Amino acid sequence: MSHKSVNGKVKTAVLISGGGSNMVALVQAAQDPGFPAEIVLVISNRPGAGGITKAEDLGVKVLCIDHKNFKTRKQFEQAMDKMLRAHGTELICNAGFMRILSPWFVGSWRGRQLNIHPSLLPKFKGLHTHERAIEAGESEHGCTIHYVDEGMDTGKIIAQAKVKVLPDDTKETLAARVLKAEHKLYPQILMQIASEKPPTQN
Ligand code: GAR
Repeated sequence: MSHKSVNGKVKTAVLISGGGSNMVALVQAAQDPGFPAEIVLVISNRPGAGGITKAEDLGVKVLCIDHKNFKTRKQFEQAMDKMLRAHGTELICNAGFMRILSPWFVGSWRGRQLNIHPSLLPKFKGLHTHERAIEAGESEHGCTIHYVDEGMDTGKIIAQAKVKVLPDDTKETLAARVLKAEHKLYPQILMQIASEKPPTQN
C-alpha cells in the first residue's frame, strides 16, 4: 500500500498546541501544485493556540480537540484518531504538539507520524532545549525530525539541521535561529517522505 491517494498527494494532518509556525511552513509548501502532500487537517489540543487562526487564514481545515474535555488520554486520542481517519489522513506531522501520546495512538500510526524536536537528538530530549544547550556550552544546536515511537523524542531519526550557538545567544535568540531552520527542514522532509513509499506498517 502506498501513502498516495487518488490525486497522487499524501493526505497529511498537522498536530499543534501553540503558535503553529511550523504548521504554516508546511501548509505554505503544500500550496505548491507540484508538492507531493496536501494538508487535509490541522488539529490543536489547545483552544487558545495561535496556530488555529493562522490555519483558518490559510484556508486549511482546523479543529480544536481540547484534551481537557476528555476524562482519559485514550478518549482524547480516540477523538483525534476518529477525525484523522474521517479526513483520510495517511501521514501525521506533529508540529509543536505538546501532549504525550499513548502506546495505543503511537502504535496505530507507527511509521506514519513524524515529529520535529528543537535539539540535535539524542541530545536534549524533552523541554527547555535551547536553555539547556546554552548551559551545556554547546557550540552547535539545531532541530531533528524523527518518527514517533513510544518514548519521548526517541524515535528513528530522519533528518537534522544544525545552527551555530553564538557567544551572546540567549535562549530566545537561539530559539529563533533554530525555528528558522525548522521551517526549512520540515517541508523538505515532508516532501521527501511523501515522495517515497511508506515504511512498513504494523
Ligand atoms: C518548535 O520549536 C518545535 O520544534 C517545538 O515547539 C516549537 C513549536 O513552534 N516542539 C517541541 O518542543 C516538541 N517537544 P510552532 O508552534 O511555532 O511550530
